[in-house]
Amino acid sequence: MSYETSLAYAPSNIAFIKYMGKADQANNIPSNPSLSFTLNDLCSYVEVRKVKNMKTGVSFVKELPNINVINNAAQLYRPQLSNVEIKRFTHHIDKVKEKSLDVLESFHLGHESEGFLEIRSANTFPLGAGIASSASSFAALTLSLVYTFCSNKEKFLKVYENDLNFRNLIAQISRLGSGSSCRSFFGPWVKWVGEDVFPVKHDFPNLAHFVLLVNKDPKKVSSSQAHQLVKTSPFYQTRLLNMPEKLKQIEDYLKAGDIKNVSAVAWAEFMEMHSLFHTSNQSFSYWKPETLEVLSWIHPSVGVDQSSPIVTMDAGANIHFFIRNEMKELFKEKLQRQFNRFEILEDSTGLGAKIIC
Ligand code: PMV
Repeated sequence: MSYETSLAYAPSNIAFIKYMGKADQANNIPSNPSLSFTLNDLCSYVEVRKVKNMKTGVSFVKELPNINVINNAAQLYRPQLSNVEIKRFTHHIDKVKEKSLDVLESFHLGHESEGFLEIRSANTFPLGAGIASSASSFAALTLSLVYTFCSNKEKFLKVYENDLNFRNLIAQISRLGSGSSCRSFFGPWVKWVGEDVFPVKHDFPNLAHFVLLVNKDPKKVSSSQAHQLVKTSPFYQTRLLNMPEKLKQIEDYLKAGDIKNVSAVAWAEFMEMHSLFHTSNQSFSYWKPETLEVLSWIHPSVGVDQSSPIVTMDAGANIHFFIRNEMKELFKEKLQRQFNRFEILEDSTGLGAKIIC
């Protein structure tokens, strides 16, 4: 049986200015622009194997992708997909088939989507590790599929590497499956406005990233539910009005390499998002007592000087820290000394999704 395989890598990303609330639910168009940092090792790999002489169809194979070709020797975890997740991925595969036709044709790359698809996927982090796998897995799946459907693979790789607009169009397809996945195509600093995603100019040093896992329970409120509920907070409209100024500020600070002020803005921003959760008309919270313990411990160091940690939280209980690379070991020791009862994940600055082979 003749088949061809494509393997894609996509990292997770963490927003410093959060995407919270959708302007268009069906197409995952955000109500406000967001700005994120791309991770490196906390990522997904998706292998698509196209069996050519078989009827069109899809199967999610319970095997890891062919890791021999993955140079980074990280431990891999195969996601156990529920029926709902399989349905969501299958729906997305149909969308990618449909939407990639125009994108590939407009770049004269040729489109060939016939055949049976076997999908193998893996993450470098286990479920419940406080890292959302949807951004990295939808980005890796989308990229691997578009590459599979392309008939001129050599040209694809060149265009993907050099043409940000091409990459943006693939990110837009990925966004239809998972909103924040579109930011995983670029790095290290990425802005997403409406349909468009692009890298942001900056003069920042490489950062080390740590997640302090204070709680590993599954979330009671999904991010999709949160996107809807926040609209009922009396502070939601004010947040939207203030957003252009906040975004301009953080972009200026990134351009100026001003860690002190990025640290201050990032703190205020995740606090604002969690305040929306706390004040929606069905009030909910991701915070645990341990979350507050960690936040009150770190708060005096936030926004102080160029050595300040940047702190943020997603829609979850765990706390993310970013620190200049040269201070990484010192900061890690400090975290371990203070919170030796919690697991710590570690990562670095990344550049976005790519084809491995
Ligand atoms: O992409 P979604 O629908 O999982 O939304 C992500 C929302 C946050 O993680 C809370 C914020 C963000 O911008 O990533």
